[in-house]
Amino acid sequence: PTIFRQDYTPYPYRLPQVRLEFDLAAESARVRSELRFESAPDTAPGAPLVLHGEDLELIEVRLDGRPLSADEYQLTDDTLSLVPPGHGKPFTVGVVSLCRPADNTSLMGLYVSGGNLFTQCEAQGFRRITWFPDRPDVMARFEVLLRADPAAYPLLLSNGNLIEQAGLPDGRHQALWRDPHPKPSYLFALVAGDFDCIERTVTTQGGREALLQVYSDKGCQEQTRWALDCLENALRWDERRFGLELDLDRFMVVAARDFNMGAMENKGLNVFNAAYVLADPDTATDAAYRGIEAVIGHEYFHNWTGNRVTCRDWFQLSLKEGLTVFRDQEFSADMLADGLPPAEAASARAVKRIDDVHTLRLAQFPEDAGPMAHPIRPDSYQEIGNFYTATVYEKGAEVIRMQHTLLGEAGFRAGMDEYFRRHDGQAVTCDAFVDAMESVYARQHPGQDFTIFRRWYAQAGTPRVRVRSDYDAAARTCRITLEQHCAPAGLEARQSPPAEKPPLHIPVALGLIDADGRPMPMQWDGEARDTVILELRETSQTWTLKDIPRAPILSLLRGFSAPVILETDRTADDLALLARHDPDPFARWDAVQETAHRHLQACMRADRDGSPQPAPDTLLDIWRTALNDQALSPAYRARLLALPAVREVIDRSEPMDPRAAVAAWTRTRQALGAQLAEAWRAAYGALADDGGPYSPDPVSSGRRALRNLALDHLLAGQAPDAAEQALAQYRQARNMTESLGALNALLQHAPQAAAEPLADFHARWRQDPLVLDRWFGAQAGAPGCTVAGVRALMALPDFSLRNPNRARAVVFRFCLDNPGNLHTPEGYDFWAEQVLALNALNPEVAARLSRAFDNWARHEPVARAGMQAALQRVLDAPDLSRNVREIVSKALAT
Ligand code: ARG
Ligand code: ZN
Repeated sequence: PTIFRQDYTPYPYRLPQVRLEFDLAAESARVRSELRFESAPDTAPGAPLVLHGEDLELIEVRLDGRPLSADEYQLTDDTLSLVPPGHGKPFTVGVVSLCRPADNTSLMGLYVSGGNLFTQCEAQGFRRITWFPDRPDVMARFEVLLRADPAAYPLLLSNGNLIEQAGLPDGRHQALWRDPHPKPSYLFALVAGDFDCIERTVTTQGGREALLQVYSDKGCQEQTRWALDCLENALRWDERRFGLELDLDRFMVVAARDFNMGAMENKGLNVFNAAYVLADPDTATDAAYRGIEAVIGHEYFHNWTGNRVTCRDWFQLSLKEGLTVFRDQEFSADMLADGLPPAEAASARAVKRIDDVHTLRLAQFPEDAGPMAHPIRPDSYQEIGNFYTATVYEKGAEVIRMQHTLLGEAGFRAGMDEYFRRHDGQAVTCDAFVDAMESVYARQHPGQDFTIFRRWYAQAGTPRVRVRSDYDAAARTCRITLEQHCAPAGLEARQSPPAEKPPLHIPVALGLIDADGRPMPMQWDGEARDTVILELRETSQTWTLKDIPRAPILSLLRGFSAPVILETDRTADDLALLARHDPDPFARWDAVQETAHRHLQACMRADRDGSPQPAPDTLLDIWRTALNDQALSPAYRARLLALPAVREVIDRSEPMDPRAAVAAWTRTRQALGAQLAEAWRAAYGALADDGGPYSPDPVSSGRRALRNLALDHLLAGQAPDAAEQALAQYRQARNMTESLGALNALLQHAPQAAAEPLADFHARWRQDPLVLDRWFGAQAGAPGCTVAGVRALMALPDFSLRNPNRARAVVFRFCLDNPGNLHTPEGYDFWAEQVLALNALNPEVAARLSRAFDNWARHEPVARAGMQAALQRVLDAPDLSRNVREIVSKALAT
């Protein structure tokens, strides 16, 4: 059944107060609720009251204290309805029910992980705990009483403040929590179990004392210090940059070993995937440290953008997710740039921007070109769990970023202030946010508004912007024409007549450089500027730049000012010039990427036509210059010298041809390794660790990144002593970034030599699940890992499909990062089999894996037929979850 955004109706009752009592045990948890309802304005007296519930055992229903008989309420698979008294006054509904945490493998609702009890309620998990109006626009004050055996569950946590704790006559103990802030059920959480905890008291800007705590498995305390530091940094950053203060006396983060996604922003009690909490130099890579910073920031920032102002309905998910991703991206960038002089700070921020754009192109662009394409505010869904997508999150963040670009930092801040002034404490739609931003924009630009900009919320698909320029030497003018179009996306493509796609409001940041690579300022708004923003609002628009002394080369989409694909007639020479001289670090990186893409596609074409392989001369030249340019930070050089991911190369080929893309990519990397061997070797030596204590700071982690890249290329290029060097690096490694860098390079290029370090790694880390995930993942993603190989990994006693991190390390890693082995008949069978196995355990995780074949129809005929048959096999299977059914049926409908 499809749910449509247009069908929204308000809930007929308000729910000011909720009391919940839990008798907790792993096998069975008993929940007694007391819900105090009031009629909402406009509600007819006696309008039916509908509560949601799933997989619950009902014990009792009461209305104003009186037990109801079975004919006084109606029960379906997922609802409990009753007719309240018609007097229009407040009434109380009480429900007693049971759920079974130990049997809950879906990890939605109340579940067991590592012997402890956790909840995950977003989006619709609360209904698996008790019957409730489980929708984000019903906000209540919660009082929660938890009772359990103190031996098994010494700690009992929920949202808000701990009011009292006491022993009980029957030997159990109890804790009473009260959350002063009204909240929707999706922000409810409870945690019960045995944990270590570290804490710190901070004073907020406004003088409030707040206790910050991080809970983790017994014995992991030392691995939580970085997370606690990040939490304090996040708190300070939100005060500084947005004037937003913590509104709680106590803010808790708890690490769970089994978790479907990254983390969850439950009010005052964030529950995290342990992978985004635990780190120390021996066990976590530099990237893991940055990931923790980003996710701790993300969840903390939700306290305002998500919790204080929440979503009216789930179609508005990007209201909180897009905005909060934008905020966590800015937080990470500011942390990277912290304390650096301006030029280096700009380059540090650009590194973060490059990584974020890379993610967008890798995950969101293909989504926007496939059967699951949807606007950042979708119009319909079958299962909301399937819409925690790269589009809602990452493209959503780009749409926020464009508003930031159009308004400027001060204007954006004014818009945020206005948003909270209007909507604090409310559940609203995406329009509320754009309205607040528009109020500032209209003040800045009299007579203009966001009417066209709003279309970003309604249109799916990645727009293409075609750029033409012509230079008039006599008049010293340059005319620039931008033209936009956006092909039908996803299921739109089957619509006839095709859906209308009016133009979008696209900010295109532009700079000019001359043939010697010097920047050429432009006259704009009465001043000379190196970068200007062209605001494209029509299908086609032309700008004339005056006083341009020489023919310019266009540096376009600086900072990636809009989530679009550029179509330009820039020549290889233009790109090479930009790749060497563009003062905008993002655009410079993008010019190198574009050069690499063109070469890789040329290799694939040559392969297909049976003509000789093109030599990567231009690319080699650009890379050599970048590699040796000591003025550039190692972190930035590591990005300049990264080939596009294989998946991007596959995505660009038409028809998509995974095995040909792998071949072209592998050959190119080998050439770049072999022909630059001297430079790689020099860099490898020069970037050696200085022997000081480990720190995940951007400078030293940048050095490690470039050094690992050098090692990888030395191996790829078959440098004579490269495998020896990798083994030496593995043995001497002083942190996980170095060990894993060496192990990965060996697995990629010299698998025979990897056996010994692999065995050593396993012996050393088998007790640490997160590190063991790395061991599994490195193997599952290696080109030598066939389907038989991945099955062998799954047969090991350490493997379990029930732990999402382990499933992702092995099954997802193989299906997403090993295209050469996936795209075989056995690979297609494997995928279908694993989707179905996961479907029976955890529909959310299964649906994620099922997305791997979204773009089957764009593939060459053999892959296409194999993937289609596998999809059909999944669709035909019995007991398919709603999650997987939606994905697979939409894929097959293309
Ligand atoms: N709101 C969470 C975040 O973005 C994501 C939770 C979604 N969880 C889920 N199981 N669907 O931080
Ligand atoms: Zn989020």
